Amino acid sequence: MLSRVARRAFSSTVANPYKVTVLGAGGGIGQPLSLLLKLNHKVTDLRLYDLKGAKGVATDLSHIPTNSVVKGFSPEEPDGLSNALKDTDMVLIPAGVPRKPGMTRDDLFAINASIVHDLAVAAAESAPNAAILVISNPVNSTVPIVAQVLKSKGVYNPKKLFGVTTLDSIRASRFISEVEHTDPTQERVNVIGGHSGITIIPLISQTTHKLMSDDKKQELIHRIQFGGDEVVKAKNGAGSATLSMAHAGAKFANAVLSGFKGERDVIEPSFVDSPLFKSEGIDFFASPVTLGPDGIEKIHPIGELSSQEEEMLEKCKETLKKNIEKGVSFVASK
Ligand code: NAD
Ligand code: LMR
Repeated sequence: MLSRVARRAFSSTVANPYKVTVLGAGGGIGQPLSLLLKLNHKVTDLRLYDLKGAKGVATDLSHIPTNSVVKGFSPEEPDGLSNALKDTDMVLIPAGVPRKPGMTRDDLFAINASIVHDLAVAAAESAPNAAILVISNPVNSTVPIVAQVLKSKGVYNPKKLFGVTTLDSIRASRFISEVEHTDPTQERVNVIGGHSGITIIPLISQTTHKLMSDDKKQELIHRIQFGGDEVVKAKNGAGSATLSMAHAGAKFANAVLSGFKGERDVIEPSFVDSPLFKSEGIDFFASPVTLGPDGIEKIHPIGELSSQEEEMLEKCKETLKKNIEKGVSFVASK
């Protein structure tokens, strides 16, 4: 006869049998992200892949007594990457190089575009039904790269491709709470657009703090847009945000799994294949989305904007369009 605790553990294993794969699991984001996924009871099968170190990280995490089995994979073993991906439900991609001071995210394109392209090819072949969560920068271009690869393989499902922009939202919650002296856990700021500098648009006018002074608002918006640079500068050549990003990635992954499970009203912002500005040639845009059993259930409209936010949106669209085209052209040139 099973004890009550054992029965509960058993039933949660059976009810949430999600397989999750992290590509780039040995890196600055990959390691803490994998730890947080190991602690997530919705995950029962955790596969970690990296060019180096994933097996060590997996063995380390495998001693934590949670529901999941964790296994490391390497390119040195036959079919390492395809075995890491085979029939998985979700693929998180933090593989790629991070910024150093003085670089833009777009400067990473030269290296990361190829890395993300090749991983997307592998995901298309071994996990055609998986949700793909792209973390590698520049997200505004790497997400279109993954979309083009999946299209070329005939397995593109726009409801299951996500650029992870959660870090912008959590920064917005934190930074607004610092200037308004409020509880950061209770702050919700819709951040729309993309994931780089001026393409990041926090909609302060839609919060309860819309009446803050113009100077304070300007400073806040700038800090949210360039929060990544703040970390890059402080790390002084040793990379970019890893721990806050791992938290953001795990939060978003949990939201996608909650949607899969059929939980209601799971809403998170994400950079997705979006109808919002398609008529203007912008195929991807970040806005809040409702997550459901099949991935994206609803892409929410951006709501009412202040005149300042309207201006920011116009500038964002110009840059975003170019970033998206760059990703699409890269795949076309392959
Ligand atoms: P990192 O260098 O610490 O780790 C990257 C890992 O990727 C390394 O372990 C490396 O071996 C691995 N890797 C490289 N090529 C690979 C391949 N082909 N297959 C498997 N693994 C591969 O870098 P990091 O700090 O973890 O950052 C990773 C990426 O995430 C960067 O591009 C960074 O700009 C981006 N990032 C995005 C956000 C966001 O909000 N979306 C936030 C922070 C960082
Ligand atoms: C971030 O926002 O912290 C990431 O995109 C990493 C970076 O390069 O700023």
